[in-house]
Amino acid sequence: KILILDFGSQYTQLIARRVRECQVYCELHPFDMSLDDIKAFQPKGIILSGGPKSVYEEGAPEITEELFELGVPVLGLCYGMQLMSRHFGGQVVPAGKREYGHADLLSLGTPGPLFDGFFSDGVSSVWMSHGDHVETMPQGFEVVAKTSNAPVCAIQNVALNLYGVQFHPEVNHTPKGELLINTFVRKVCNCAGLWTPGQIVEDAIVKIREQVGSDQVILGLSGGVDSSVAAALIHRAIGAQLHCVFVDNGLLRLNEGDQVMATFAENMGVKVTRVNAQQRFYDALSGVVDPEKKRKIIGNLFVDIFEEESQQVVDAKWLAQGTIYPDVIESAGAKTGKAHNIKSHHNVGGLPDYMTLKLLEPLRELFKDEVRAIGEELGLPQQMVWRHPFPGPGLGVRILGEVKEEYCDILRRADAIYIDELYASGHYHKISQAFAVFLPVKSVGVMGDGRTYEYVVALRAVETKDFMTAGWYPMPYEDLARISNRIINEVKGINRVTYDISSKPPATIEWE
Ligand code: XMP
Repeated sequence: KILILDFGSQYTQLIARRVRECQVYCELHPFDMSLDDIKAFQPKGIILSGGPKSVYEEGAPEITEELFELGVPVLGLCYGMQLMSRHFGGQVVPAGKREYGHADLLSLGTPGPLFDGFFSDGVSSVWMSHGDHVETMPQGFEVVAKTSNAPVCAIQNVALNLYGVQFHPEVNHTPKGELLINTFVRKVCNCAGLWTPGQIVEDAIVKIREQVGSDQVILGLSGGVDSSVAAALIHRAIGAQLHCVFVDNGLLRLNEGDQVMATFAENMGVKVTRVNAQQRFYDALSGVVDPEKKRKIIGNLFVDIFEEESQQVVDAKWLAQGTIYPDVIESAGAKTGKAHNIKSHHNVGGLPDYMTLKLLEPLRELFKDEVRAIGEELGLPQQMVWRHPFPGPGLGVRILGEVKEEYCDILRRADAIYIDELYASGHYHKISQAFAVFLPVKSVGVMGDGRTYEYVVALRAVETKDFMTAGWYPMPYEDLARISNRIINEVKGINRVTYDISSKPPATIEWE
């Protein structure tokens, strides 16, 4: 396994994903991980990330210098290479010119093992983002490549297996970056490619059985990707010891409850208790217009109901959750203040402390794409595995202002037509998230000979990598025309459809 030390680069998660794509397990840890912890981790290789600071700046993150003496291969990226250079007596200085974006990396002399196949005709296109560079070479190292702006852009000490590059091989803009990372983890560090979906499932099953023994486990199934994959995996491991509770809060998509029951209870034989709590949610939300209040009410009521049900279902010792690796990294980052991107709201509102259950989180080490891959491996339906994310409060935040059952029914039907059409026209998988929003205002229309006075829906579709920023999806006019036509004709109560052309920021993805 590979250890990645995080010096605060915005790309650190990408490094981890690239390593995993080489089918090698890795973990991300803060830069100040102690030497003892590093040794205990037993890495076969270490990658030092980039970072926003300068190595000579006051308060810049320092490295645990002894890690260079462990005899483990180290690859320093950007800031990581500068730290390595400085440790070995090189000099890092502010560049006359900042380098940002594409650059041609020029090979100098014979590239070593890490750069096997990296250059063609002595050149490779790379992505740069730095203000400092190495001016004087560290002792024992040779320079491998330069750009027109920086004399030292790749260095190596082959005998000690230490490598540094100034560019970012982890971003897609470095076309041969994947190859370089693959060479590092598979050849230089000699890691076998064992991290495959089949293997992940097998390992997880063994681990779940070990952890749980003969105890009973309870899981809140939402129908979303993470809780679904967690349920399928745990069920594969412990079968009837798993008890799922599915709360229908009346704020779900069309037929979602039935689909969840069909997939899990009927097809897979998972024990699922379906709680039809629609009316309790509508009652609790009656008269409430403030989005944050609605979120709180929905979240709290879910916890109450889940708790009531779980006590009835079984004497469980474990609570299973579909927590995934980005959630773990984010909350760790939020604690130490090291992460630069922190999402404010997420599913994991958490359960009350007095539920003294042990946590079972079998997806805790996985990225979203790995979760999807093992969902497929476990035979979950494609549509479930590749579904767009759906917020915990569901339609509760897609009906502006007060939530009413009537509005939910209208919105569900409009949304189903929209999503149907996106699948049929091949747009669905190009879009990161799409949904309809209900606007509780009436406008005038004409249908046949009659005047209508009905509600409006807005259609939203965005493209995004991380949901922190997003662009609206350029939906072709003819598709918009067909969708609008169908919604107005088929959904009673709607006589006007609009398309949302706002980006995030300054808008958000959801309307509330
Ligand atoms: P925004 O609207 O903040 O959404 O641009 C970013 C992502 O977060 C989802 N979202 C939520 N998810 N509970 C959730 O579980 C919430 O209260 C919530 N609000 C927004 C949103 O769907 C998008 O994917």
